[in-house]
Amino acid sequence: MNLISLARRALRKPDYALTALSRQVRARPILAPEIRPFVDERLTALREAFSGVSGTTRGHSLGHGAVQSPHAEMLWSLVRSRKPARVVETGVCNGLSSAVMLKAMDANGAGELVSVDLPEFAEPERNTEAFWAGKGGAVVPPGKDCGWLVPDEFRGRWSLVLGRASEVLPAVLADGCDIFIHDSEHSYENQLFEFRQGWAALRPGGVLVATDINWSAAFDDWRKTVRGRVQYLDHSCALVSK
Ligand SMILES: C[S@@+](CC[C@H](N)C(=O)[O-])C[C@H]1O[C@@H](n2cnc3c(N)ncnc32)[C@H](O)[C@@H]1O
Repeated sequence: MNLISLARRALRKPDYALTALSRQVRARPILAPEIRPFVDERLTALREAFSGVSGTTRGHSLGHGAVQSPHAEMLWSLVRSRKPARVVETGVCNGLSSAVMLKAMDANGAGELVSVDLPEFAEPERNTEAFWAGKGGAVVPPGKDCGWLVPDEFRGRWSLVLGRASEVLPAVLADGCDIFIHDSEHSYENQLFEFRQGWAALRPGGVLVATDINWSAAFDDWRKTVRGRVQYLDHSCALVSK
């Protein structure tokens, strides 16, 4: 979301803008420099794969949509420190977040990751599903598949479930999880649905990671309904411990 849309939203909803500002003031980054080379390699691969890609979808430029580097570093720290048995994430696209968490599990020698995604492709003929009207331009580039950034050596711990989160998530979460990450469709309805589902499935001591909480008021509405400890990484990302 760019500065102009943020300013427009702030004018429309001054209360919400104040909440976002206070989140920024309370923010506490969790950085892990040791994973930076791995993240940078993947960002270079993304830049190369997107070098010839142009065009728009729903008025947004096509792009890779990967998690920001500080968020990727936080996911590494979280998985390395918590040593989760089962992690569930929504939103894979090219697979930066998945690759980082699987590398952390490999270093831990334990854990499985189940990722849910309804991918959009740069080549229009590969798209058969309808997307939320507010979706940005995150796509998989020509000739690549969803999650292509995940190295083969880490795939043994990975299950990729392709489908709409609202349809496939309940079954995926039926086995519970230790960490849940939302990074798929950032509509109010879907964010609220995923926070509720993810939280209910989290085992005691688990952590819910909410990205793009500045896209809708869902996180602010949902967090008032639960008792977990909230930690803000920045204005767009929060962790809630159960
Ligand atoms: C922001 S990208 C995920 C980026 C990824 N976490 C990374 O670090 O590279 C969001 C992904 O969610 C997918 N998506 C959009 N709507 C969805 C839905 N309703 N259910 C599941 N996935 C969805 C998009 O197509 C895209 O692949």
